[in-house]
Amino acid sequence: MFFGSQFFHLDKVDSTNNFAANLIEKGLCQNGAVILADEQTLGRGQRDSLWESEPHKNILCSFVYFPDNVSVDKLEAYNYCLSIALVNCLKLFQIDAAIKWPNDILVNNKKIAGVLIENSLSAGKIKSMIFGVGLNVNQLNFNYSHATSMAVIADKVFDLSEVSSCLTQQFNHWISFVENKTPLLKQQYTSNLFGLQKVLRFKILLHELDGVIVGVNENGELEVNIEGNVRSFKNKEISFLL
Ligand code: BTN
Repeated sequence: MFFGSQFFHLDKVDSTNNFAANLIEKGLCQNGAVILADEQTLGRGQRDSLWESEPHKNILCSFVYFPDNVSVDKLEAYNYCLSIALVNCLKLFQIDAAIKWPNDILVNNKKIAGVLIENSLSAGKIKSMIFGVGLNVNQLNFNYSHATSMAVIADKVFDLSEVSSCLTQQFNHWISFVENKTPLLKQQYTSNLFGLQKVLRFKILLHELDGVIVGVNENGELEVNIEGNVRSFKNKEISFLL
């Protein structure tokens, strides 16, 4: 399997993740399919949010993967791969990014890329994964003050196809480590974590607290040292106050 073995370049679509899900349902999707769109009319983000993107400016894509008899235990490792691929791709374009747990990509404390992974599971095994990526490349103005792009950071225009090829190559590289070298992925992911070993302000339930991120545990939960005790948090149990 390699990402890009089947490739769809769409002018306009509601959401590349929806397009991928429809292809899978109709049995038309190959393992490794990549769906890239110039424009989304209903781009979806995490927590039921919308992902807005100016047409023809950014990377909007979905990678489809059908793991072969792989346990759901590996879901975290796949998640790590995509984040690592994004950070390394940006690094190749001289942009220094970090992973805000679990999978936002930040540059200068602002979000440059977001990930929406949609899985289909059965009997403890992963049937299919759709890795949706929105990477801000050439957009200069955003409705949200906490968003940024490669062009804002580097003050130049990037070739979208070069960026998408680089991301695909990186993802192909890192996904090959899932089966046998998950500790390496965890180490790579952790070392690129935003705020690692720094005091940050968090919201936990209704409380605002200072804590220091020390890593992630075997289940992919964020480990934070709060007043000398290391506590683990699932997604939605903790938020960053940036
Ligand atoms: C987030 O909220 O951070 C996740 C954003 C994910 C957006 C991408 S754009 C391509 C793919 N298709 C979608 O509808 N969403 C993802």
